[in-house]
Amino acid sequence: MRVVKGGSREQWADFVAETLIARLQVRPALRLCLPTGLTPVPIYDRIATAVAAGRVSLGHAEVFLLDEFGGVDPDDPGRCDQMLRRFLVARVDLPEARFHRFTLAGDIAAECDAYERSIGAGCDLTLLGLGGNGHIGMNEPGAAADSLTRRVDLAPETTAASARYFSHDRLPTWGVTMGIGTIMRSEEVWLLAAGTNKAAIAARTVREPVSDSLPASWLRAHPTTLLIVDDEAGARL
Ligand code: F6R
Repeated sequence: MRVVKGGSREQWADFVAETLIARLQVRPALRLCLPTGLTPVPIYDRIATAVAAGRVSLGHAEVFLLDEFGGVDPDDPGRCDQMLRRFLVARVDLPEARFHRFTLAGDIAAECDAYERSIGAGCDLTLLGLGGNGHIGMNEPGAAADSLTRRVDLAPETTAASARYFSHDRLPTWGVTMGIGTIMRSEEVWLLAAGTNKAAIAARTVREPVSDSLPASWLRAHPTTLLIVDDEAGARL
């Protein structure tokens, strides 16, 4: 895992967005896995601005949503698909048919299996946020290195942290997520961390032994993963 120090929050967001734009320019049919959460919001904002300016297009790209909260109304603004739509998809030229997400409307195990199959050999590029307990996607401590897309229980601290996304207190206790094994098949992975509250977990991710108690540490076994931090998140690196 190579650590990239992106500078101030603004410089960090510029760096990630411009590097992503460059990837899309070289490879317009890029197959992307994208997270929600608050970390990528300024990056998505920059991508939307670049698309509006005609600098780049997602017209040939494919986007796989990383994960989804369960037990939440389909139109709840805190749902992952609603967040990604609001922050990025509704603002760019990605064809609706190439925005892959979870419906959670029927047989969840069958939907997860089909999702895993649709990812096939792996995404070209996976962007990830970093949970305070080291989770990636909704792969909480204990997630196995070979785990695939599946239903998972959220750690209590993840349920509590999700209050930032919801305007009510019916917080999710479970979700569905690409597995560690699914993520590890991605050609490139960028683990994104910004802000003071990510400094400790970013340092642990790089230094602690690789183990299932710190899911992000599995990425150290991935050949091209970058941990891209801003000044605050990188303060202990
Ligand atoms: C979101 C996701 C989560 C977040 C993580 C960090 O799709 O998979 O793993 O990336 O919880 O969340 P923020 O960015 O809100 O600090």
